[in-house]
Amino acid sequence: MIIVITSTVFTSVGIQLISNRIVTEAQEMVDLDLNSARDIYQSKLNHINDVISLTASRFYFKDALIGGNIGGTAEELVRVEQSEGLDILTITDPKGNVLLRANNIRLTGDSQSHNELVAAAIKSNGSVAGTIIVPVEDLELESQLLVDQAHLNFINTPMARVRSDTQETSGMMLEAAAPILDYQNNLIGILYGGVLLNRNYEIVDEIKRTVFQNLQYKSQDIGTATIFQDDLRISTNVKNGDSTRAIGTRVSEEVYNQVVVNGKPYIGRAYVVNNWYITAYEPIENINHQIIGILYVGILEQKYLDIKQQTVLVFLSIALIGVLVSTVLSYLLSRSISGPIKKLVLASKEVASGNLDTKVEITTTDELGKLAYTFNKMALALRERDDKLKEFTKSKIMESERLALIGQLAANVAHELNNPLQGIVTYSHLLLEELPHDDPTRDSLEKIVIQANRSRDIIRGLLDFSRQRKPDKTLCDVNNVLKGCVSLLEKQALFHNIQITSNLDEKLPLTVIDPSQIERVFINIIVNAADAMDGNGKLNLATRFDPVDHCIEVEFTDTGHGIKKENLEKIFDPFFTTKDTGHGVGLGLAISFGIIKEHKGTISVESEVGKGTTFIVRLPVTTEEESVKDEQSV
Ligand SMILES: Nc1ncnc2c1ncn2[C@@H]1O[C@H](COP(=O)(O)OP(=O)(O)O)[C@@H](O)[C@H]1O
Ligand SMILES: [Mg+2]
Repeated sequence: MIIVITSTVFTSVGIQLISNRIVTEAQEMVDLDLNSARDIYQSKLNHINDVISLTASRFYFKDALIGGNIGGTAEELVRVEQSEGLDILTITDPKGNVLLRANNIRLTGDSQSHNELVAAAIKSNGSVAGTIIVPVEDLELESQLLVDQAHLNFINTPMARVRSDTQETSGMMLEAAAPILDYQNNLIGILYGGVLLNRNYEIVDEIKRTVFQNLQYKSQDIGTATIFQDDLRISTNVKNGDSTRAIGTRVSEEVYNQVVVNGKPYIGRAYVVNNWYITAYEPIENINHQIIGILYVGILEQKYLDIKQQTVLVFLSIALIGVLVSTVLSYLLSRSISGPIKKLVLASKEVASGNLDTKVEITTTDELGKLAYTFNKMALALRERDDKLKEFTKSKIMESERLALIGQLAANVAHELNNPLQGIVTYSHLLLEELPHDDPTRDSLEKIVIQANRSRDIIRGLLDFSRQRKPDKTLCDVNNVLKGCVSLLEKQALFHNIQITSNLDEKLPLTVIDPSQIERVFINIIVNAADAMDGNGKLNLATRFDPVDHCIEVEFTDTGHGIKKENLEKIFDPFFTTKDTGHGVGLGLAISFGIIKEHKGTISVESEVGKGTTFIVRLPVTTEEESVKDEQSV
């Protein structure tokens, strides 16, 4: 679309510019041609003027006039007329009465003072020349030949100016008149003569020859010239259809109005006889500045139309070829871009839908090729990661399934062992109580009681861990719970050498917890700390409120042996213990973790081997209503 629109715009603008240029060029040329035509016309008139002036000043005619024997010069007058190619040559007396006319020697005495040139020459006592309309009466006085030459029947052509007359009888002449003076410079006569323009093609053909060099286009003259008498073609080389000269035809109304009526030149295209021409017309005036005719030059428009048409054709074909080539090129280009992009889009969709084996087949080395290469690499990397992830999850699931199975088994075993163990503990206690102090078996029985107690503890721990007893929550002060634990523990032998300090936040908000479960967590952590310090060190307890997360933080910091890095993530696992058999079961932190998780809290640890360990328990602050709501939603 862009290509078509731009080339259409450019082509039409280009065509317009060039056609206008061609037309203006032709127009300017015709305008110049009209100047040349005028020069030729004028030089013809000048020639006549020269001939008349020279002849009038000849002593031969002067002396004859002075001597009253002008009739004797007739022979010479005729000779001058013929040798100079004049149509009339006449001598009058100073009043304008004819004394001798070359064409009609016998006819004298008539007055020619109505002839404007004769009148002007008498008046000015000098020579004058100009174009003049000669009425048929005057032509008749000269010769029938001139009458016939001037007479033109109107021929109607399309576009010609409409007139009611059907013929023209008067003639248009280039004429000059000069005074004949005696030796005292008195006017003794007038010599006038000229050339009839009607049917005289000398001027127009000279224009055609010199200005247009007789050039032809499609066997028609390119350049044409015409002399009009008023609106009538009296001398022309514009041809009729039958290739006769188009004399007797008339100018168009439009040109007539412009040139004859308004007295202005007409320049532009005009319909001449039977064809369109690029034309220039200008008025021909008589010596009194009345417009009596038109001088015309014109060049055949067809030639320029054809040039224009050829230019348009060339332009159009160039544009068309341009459009075709650029359309094909841009189609190929866009296909080379959009094709790979489509492939990439499809591949992305495939990848998005989980098909990571997708590959884009683009082998180009440009940006798209690189993109495709990177895309394929990405898909491959995704697939590898996906595979690893799958494998990992698979093994994790298997492991946790196994663990769950073991847990289930352990819980069942614990449950089954609980009752018989209870019996063993009870009866071994009873036995021990009833046994005399000095009984030799007492030592062994005491060991049985200790081991039975221990077994019962393990089993209870296991049961606690596996049962996940439902918490019994109430609104509590965490500080109080912590204080309760300390007072319970500090009396025990393990804590005798441990310095317990506490930094408790007295403004700690109350929160809904199961106090006995939380107590159990705290005791686990504190006992672990005491174990880690081997009953000798400092234990700091701190509580604070975190307004950002809206939770209570309880911090236990000991100066014990710390936890090795590799053990840090294992300490919450069930049965993970570093303590000797008989001391640790490895369930304390596992159970604590479960309890804190159940309270929607977190438990975390930081430790440095040899320096100590800090456990942080975070419990959300919840009101009773919130906890009820929570319960319901669960
Ligand atoms: N405060 C502490 N300092 C050093 N190690 C600790 C501390 N608390 C816990 N541990 C480590 O975590 C392990 C697991 O603790 P726990 O689950 O309570 O089991 P147990 O106390 O029976 O060993 C302990 O064996 C010990 O290695
Ligand atoms: Mg413990």
